[in-house]
Amino acid sequence: MSGVNDIRSTFLDYFRKEGHEIVASSPLVPRNDPTLMFTNAGMVQFKNVFTGLEKRPYSRASTAQKSVRAGGKHNDLDNVGYTARHLTFFEMLGNFSFGDYFKERAIELAWNLITKDFGLPKDKLLVTVYHTDDEAAGYWKKIAGFSDDRIIRIPTSDNFWAMGDTGPCGPCSEIFIDRGEHIWGGPPGTPEEDGDRFLEFWNLVFMQYEQVTKDERIDLPRPSIDTGLGLERMASILQGVESVFETDLFKHLIDAASSALGHGPGEENVGSFRVIADHLRSSSFLVADGVLPSNEGRGYVLRRIMRRAMRHAQLLGAKEPLMWQLVPALVREMGQAYPELVRGEALITETLKLEETRFRRRWCAVSACFRRRRSSSTPATCWTARRPSSCMTPTASRSI
Ligand code: GLY
Repeated sequence: MSGVNDIRSTFLDYFRKEGHEIVASSPLVPRNDPTLMFTNAGMVQFKNVFTGLEKRPYSRASTAQKSVRAGGKHNDLDNVGYTARHLTFFEMLGNFSFGDYFKERAIELAWNLITKDFGLPKDKLLVTVYHTDDEAAGYWKKIAGFSDDRIIRIPTSDNFWAMGDTGPCGPCSEIFIDRGEHIWGGPPGTPEEDGDRFLEFWNLVFMQYEQVTKDERIDLPRPSIDTGLGLERMASILQGVESVFETDLFKHLIDAASSALGHGPGEENVGSFRVIADHLRSSSFLVADGVLPSNEGRGYVLRRIMRRAMRHAQLLGAKEPLMWQLVPALVREMGQAYPELVRGEALITETLKLEETRFRRRWCAVSACFRRRRSSSTPATCWTARRPSSCMTPTASRSI
């Protein structure tokens, strides 16, 4: 059951049996929503259903939603490759109630899925709640039997979820697993919370408000539920690996990169392989959804993602454009769940090939210029004027 594709099906089947309509993922470019750069969560396609502007023939839904968090309010680009859990593209599994069930049932549904169907060890689980949310804390005690020390109250925006500067929002409760002392990190709310030991994998949002403007927040017509479970994180837990990049799907993408490069990852360069695998997914899905690299807006963010991956391919010694060669592996892994990848395969391949060919040409020109500058006779403007926007100095740095 623990392959990524099986975990997705288990989640959706569970919520289907619990009376939820299974709704297809919406595109990464939100329809009719100029406030968002990319779809960054499962609730985006339901925004108007939460606020009451739109009616659907169901009051419970479940999705596996393609999400990109690069550019905009939720932006993980610079963390990718440096932590065990950050991705620019990920699949968010979610269940939604539009004025149907609320906190108690949402907590019960989540608890039963993770402890029964997924079989997670109860004694390793803990949760956060918004600091004033006594109701949610009470339900966790009643349903999971948690003592107070496993219900951590957080007073910050980490436990008050908002899609963007405006839109539906509300207090939330996040579910964490303690992966053991051998991994660095502390529980949520401690100075060591950014470590990987305590992994947050599911966020239950109790949608109660709509942020209309920066200063005005109103009640939603009906309290609702929006949850987001990171599929890749759940796969890492169920597969007993420490990083999302060691799960089956990523292993296959990294294997494809290793074959194309003629060498696999070592301790010193594993981050580059991870960046390439993650950015391959975000770039390919964005192209499949109609975004093309350009110098502004969404296209510019896509170009930054692509070039970051291409720079890492250079660091790994790629002699030829690399990214396009990995597309068949991605389509094999994810094409069944997302047929737009199959339909878009030729466009994705051509776009990646062209962009990397251009990037390499410019990179060579810039590197030659840089070498001339170091040997002193060339004016300094050469480097800065012609530097591609996403290229940094040849010294590897966290910003590439
Ligand atoms: N909408 C819930 C989440 O993204 O965590």
